[in-house]
Amino acid sequence: MKKYLVIGNPIEHSLSPLVHNYWMKKYSLSDSIYEKRKIEKKDLKNIIEEIKNDQINGMNVTVPFKKLIIPFLDDLTHLANLAQSVNTIYKKDNKIIGDNTDIEGFEQALKFIKFEAKNKVAFILGAGGVALSIILALKRLGIKKIFLSNRTNKEPEILKKNYSELEIIEWGKNPKFDLIINATSLGLNKNDVIKLDYESFGSDKVFYDVVYNPTKTNFLKSGDKMGNIIENGKMMFIYQAQLAFQIWTNIKPEIDDELIKILSND
Ligand code: ATR
Repeated sequence: MKKYLVIGNPIEHSLSPLVHNYWMKKYSLSDSIYEKRKIEKKDLKNIIEEIKNDQINGMNVTVPFKKLIIPFLDDLTHLANLAQSVNTIYKKDNKIIGDNTDIEGFEQALKFIKFEAKNKVAFILGAGGVALSIILALKRLGIKKIFLSNRTNKEPEILKKNYSELEIIEWGKNPKFDLIINATSLGLNKNDVIKLDYESFGSDKVFYDVVYNPTKTNFLKSGDKMGNIIENGKMMFIYQAQLAFQIWTNIKPEIDDELIKILSND
């Protein structure tokens, strides 16, 4: 039996098992199974041991471990190293490798909604692993300017050292932008609210939330109410999963209508 896993905390919201088990069935990988596991920080070392011992064959990582997992890995791919964020893990030549499929996932998601990043201004909320992946994706797509705001100051200051072109904005304040992205974990709980002056944004912006479950966070509801284009993290999630599946199995799984339908039922 080949076992795959997503780890995180919280993890109830994760739809990764649904997607990967769907593809495993579709491509007749009947000896494979994908599960989710809620873990604590102290469990990270042991879980990597499970990959070393072939008890686990591949792993996804979600909040809040995308950065914290790095010290336990043998090597990082180029993108994971750039982002200092790992969402996909596998074993190669007896080494445990951390990869990042969020960057490409986000790029493909923007292409999906036909958002042309060139010469646009983005405003990122959050400074964790996902935020950094999004910065890298936006840079690759030719974004003109990125503002970033985070609840606490430490992470933005570290980011600013590596990306001098970032402009850090105080949490709760808002600049002028074309695209705003919620890259925090606020929204995973239905009642989470991001306090911003939504009325001052105008009505022709794109609101993007990396959260995909629930499908319409309060952040997206506020954007919608003001007449903006809104998009949740579903396609980013599917694209990052597609790449991870390909890394583990060498099969590029199809994103078919049935899969989209399964994921829309919340
Ligand atoms: P990931 O690797 O998935 O990005 P992370 O590194 O834990 O996860 O980052 C979570 C992000 O959500 C961070 O930007 C975090 O802000 P802090 O750096 O200040 O912790 C943000 N976040 C989490 N809970 C939050 C809250 N209640 N209010 C505002 N931001 C929050």
